[in-house]
Amino acid sequence: MPTLHLVASVDDDVVAAVELLSSGRLVAVPTETVYGLGADASNEEAVRAIFNAKGRPQTHPLILHTADVDHARRLSRNWTPAAEVLAREFWPGPLSILTERSKIVSHAVTGGRDTVVLRVPDHPATLRILNALHERGSVGLAAPSANKFGSVSPTTAAHVLADLDTRIDAVLDGGPCHVGIESTIVDCTNEPAVVLRPGGIAIEAVAGSLAEHGLSVVLSDDIAGTIDSDGAIAPGMLRSHYAPKTRLLVFETQTQLEDACRVIEMRGQHVTVLPYENDPYEYSRRLYSSLRRCDDCGADVIVALLPRPTGLGVAVRDRLFKASAQR
Ligand code: TXA
Ligand code: MG
Repeated sequence: MPTLHLVASVDDDVVAAVELLSSGRLVAVPTETVYGLGADASNEEAVRAIFNAKGRPQTHPLILHTADVDHARRLSRNWTPAAEVLAREFWPGPLSILTERSKIVSHAVTGGRDTVVLRVPDHPATLRILNALHERGSVGLAAPSANKFGSVSPTTAAHVLADLDTRIDAVLDGGPCHVGIESTIVDCTNEPAVVLRPGGIAIEAVAGSLAEHGLSVVLSDDIAGTIDSDGAIAPGMLRSHYAPKTRLLVFETQTQLEDACRVIEMRGQHVTVLPYENDPYEYSRRLYSSLRRCDDCGADVIVALLPRPTGLGVAVRDRLFKASAQR
């Protein structure tokens, strides 16, 4: 069956999305970060279908989306001060909180773990869907990014269909995602909190907001491309992720990038340059659609200039390093 194309600004289509989800079907939904591949998180069979559609290993935990902080608290066994501070400051928004799972969150969502990652997305249609699901007794929407496992996250409904057409029941088209990069994931189970994945909320903002309450945050070693005080660049966990099919090379300076282009062209290969944006917010907004476009343009190699490692630049660097990792 071809995937149904629903439109987020059409009331009947949002209602149709709720009905599909409530009857155990898979619907890709818009968020401010990237499109999510949603299933009713209270329906274990529907949650398991997500893994089949994506081609993702069953043990991978999913983010559980809820409508607001009151619902989120009920899904946690130990809602810590850091979780409360960050939820109040950044929700709805591109921040996800790892917390201890309450019993009403099934192992199908958490991949068998005793923790769950919660997020309140900032998109009006998806918030309506979440409220409707809660009214029907659901814990929320389990949703990973709506791409095939290992490929670039989708920031438009067309990207979702390029990967998942016929594999899911519907996509709710809410236009292009305005953040464009996944949420920042913060483990709030202990003090200090730990940033597990940089994303749409700058780490400086997370640290600043926690500091106002006498709390602190550190970075996980998993994050690629951060620079320590000696100038060393963290490799992160370079298992390939977020990857285009075309080989991607990343550079710290424009001179290095141009030198590399000359060498590649001398070898008779076709090189394309990922569009660079000075403003890291713009860079992240366009990152995945630019990667998809470069990937489809027939080049042998994509080259990209890294942003400075501050603000959203940290997240863009992390994704570019991981996308450039050898497969
Ligand atoms: O912006 C986003 O976060 C998007 C939108 C759709 O909300 N979602 C997203 O989901 O990026 P996904 O599944 O592609 O990435 C979620 C990440 C994965 O790396 C997963 O391993 C991690 O969160 N994660 C989820 N639950 C976890 C848990 N209980 N413990 C550790 N990691 C967890
Ligand atoms: Mg993903």
